[in-house]
Amino acid sequence: MVGKAELNETKWQQLAQAAKAASARAYCPYSRFPVGCAVMTGDGAIATGCNVENASFGLTSCAERNAIFRAIADGATSIVAVLLYTPTAAPVTPCGACRQVIAEFGRDAHVRAICDGAQTLEYGLRDLLPDGFTLP
Ligand code: THU
Repeated sequence: MVGKAELNETKWQQLAQAAKAASARAYCPYSRFPVGCAVMTGDGAIATGCNVENASFGLTSCAERNAIFRAIADGATSIVAVLLYTPTAAPVTPCGACRQVIAEFGRDAHVRAICDGAQTLEYGLRDLLPDGFTLP
């Protein structure tokens, strides 16, 4: 889906709805912790992902990375916004590995975390990953 590339509150609401739908498809029989993510790409498209776990726990792939990899596979070259949803009382922030992957495609990405409670967190990616790795 290619829509308006502007990141406004309407777009955030679309991302929130998409991330909630994705969380319902999480494969998390081991942690029982479903996560949904929706990203907005540079051209305004939305891609979603959920966490996908594995009996070999370390092979688990987070919702954020799955959403970003799907966006790139669909033709995106940059990530403008990341919306993370967990069906919890408080929001959670992306893990360190996902921060590095977000940085690869969106050094200045906007990151919002929402939950079933009232609290919302919002960051610039540079706040979450001030000195991420780059090849020298
Ligand atoms: N998880 C994510 O999907 N994103 C994060 O940023 C943190 C953790 C998933 C991985 C695992 O399936 C479950 O949450 C518990 O760690």
